[in-house]
Amino acid sequence: MKHKTRKPFPENFFWGASTSAYQVEGANLEDGKGPSCQDVKEVPEGTSDLTVCADHYHHMKEDVALMAEMGFKSYRFSIAWTRILPKGTGEINQKGIDFYNELIDECLKYGIEPIVTMFHFDMPAALDERGSWGNPDSVQWFVDFARVLFENFGDRVKYWLTINEQNMLTLVGPVIGTLMIPEGCTNVLKEVYQQNHHMLVAQAKAMVLCHQMLPEAKIGPAPNISLVYPATCKPEDVIAAQNFNAIRNWLYLDMAVYGIYNAIVWSYLEENDATPTFAPGDEEAMKNAHPDFIGFNYYNTATVEAASDEEVLADAVADQQSGSIEAGMYKGFRNPNLVTTEFGWEIDPVGFRATIREMDSRYHLPLLVTENGLGAYDTLTEDGKVHDPYRIEYLRQHIAQIQEAITDGAQMLGYNPWSAIDLISTHEGMKKRYGFIYVDRDEFDLGTLNRYRKDSFYWYKKVIASNGEDL
Ligand code: BG6
Repeated sequence: MKHKTRKPFPENFFWGASTSAYQVEGANLEDGKGPSCQDVKEVPEGTSDLTVCADHYHHMKEDVALMAEMGFKSYRFSIAWTRILPKGTGEINQKGIDFYNELIDECLKYGIEPIVTMFHFDMPAALDERGSWGNPDSVQWFVDFARVLFENFGDRVKYWLTINEQNMLTLVGPVIGTLMIPEGCTNVLKEVYQQNHHMLVAQAKAMVLCHQMLPEAKIGPAPNISLVYPATCKPEDVIAAQNFNAIRNWLYLDMAVYGIYNAIVWSYLEENDATPTFAPGDEEAMKNAHPDFIGFNYYNTATVEAASDEEVLADAVADQQSGSIEAGMYKGFRNPNLVTTEFGWEIDPVGFRATIREMDSRYHLPLLVTENGLGAYDTLTEDGKVHDPYRIEYLRQHIAQIQEAITDGAQMLGYNPWSAIDLISTHEGMKKRYGFIYVDRDEFDLGTLNRYRKDSFYWYKKVIASNGEDL
C-alpha cells in the first residue's frame, strides 16, 4: 500500500548524518590518544591505514561548517574511547576531552544536535590485551568510560547511543576488525556469545547510569537491523527467516528494550552448548534498563532459505550485509527482486519501511535512523565537482519510505545517513565512499585532503530546507 496522502515529517525531525571516530578522525596517536584495536590490527593488503582517514581531527571546524551549510539539525559521531582514556581505564587525557568539547560546542553554535555514540568498533588496544569483551571486567570498564563521558559532556549532549552494531560485532567481528577470540578456544560460539553477553550487560548498566546522572538525556542502542525475508513461502523457509531474524535482529532489541533473551536464540545457544554465563546481578541489571528510543542502522534487508544440518558455516559470512549461513538454521539467499550496489549490497527501500513497521510493532518506541546510505566509487571532476546521482536516488527512495512509515504510524525521530563526509570503510578502504562531502585523497595517496561539495550535498540541503517535502 502506498498512502494517498502522506503525513509530513515531524517539525523537530533530526536531519543530519553520521560518522565514527576511527573512520573519520585520523590523528590516531596524536595529542595523547592511545591505540585502539583498529590501530594495531593487521591492515589487509590494498586497504588504507587509519592514521589520517579524512583528517577530521584537524579539519573539524571546516567540516561542521559544511554540515551547517547543508542545514543539519543533528550530527551523529562517536567518541574514541582511547582519546579519552588512552589505556581504556584510569588516566584521563585532557586533550581528548578538549577535542570533543570543541566539537560539541561547534555543533551547538550552529544549532546542530550532537548525537554521540559511545562505542563504535574501537576497543582500546590495552583492554584487548586484558581479554577485551571476553573479560567479565569489561562491563565495568565500559560503565566507567560512560561515567567520564556523562560527567564531561552530559551538560550539552542530550542524545546518547551505547554500542554501534553490537550484532555485527558478534556475527562478523573479524571482518570489521574487532572481537578477539583467545588462541586455543575450543568453543568459539560460546566465547562469542559470552562476549556478547558482557556487552549487553554493559549497555544496560550504561543506560541506567545515564538516566541517574542525566535525567534530561535520552539513550538508546544502535544495532544494524535488516528485516529477514523467507526465500519462498515454503514453511521451512519461513522458519529459517524467523531464525535469522532472531539471531541477527531481535536478540539485541528484545534485550535492550525488555531485558530478556530472545527464546529462539537461547534455544539455539543451548543446542550448541554456547549459552553465556550470568554473573550475579546481570539479570536484574538487564531488566532495569530502559532505552528512550531505538537507534538503528539500515542498509538493506536479508533473505534466507532453510539450511540442512550438514551445511557448514565457513564459506558464507562475508560482511555486515551479505548473506550468511548457520547449519540447520538458515542460509543466505540472493533476492532476485533487488538490484545491488557496486559493492554487492542489495538495495531495498521498501524493505526499509517493512523493517521500521516491524520494529514499531515489536517495541513501540521512537526510532532514530543512525545509518543508511550508498557506498560507491566517486570521481572528482577537473572543475571540482562530484556527480553522484546514484547516491541521490538511493537516499531519495529511502527517505520516501520513511515518510510512508510515518504515515503508517511509526514515531520517527530523525535520519542520519552514512556518512556526513567521506571516510574509511570498515574493510574496503577509501575507495568505497558514502559522504555528502568529498575528501580529496585516495586509498594510499593522501592528496590535498581538500573538501568538495558533491551533487548530493546540494540535494540534501534542499531536502532538509523543505523538511523532506522536496525530494
Ligand atoms: C556500518 C558501520 O556497518 O556500516 C560503519 O556502522 C560502516 O562503521 C558502514 O562504515 C558501512 O560499511 P562499510 O563496510 O561499507 O564501511
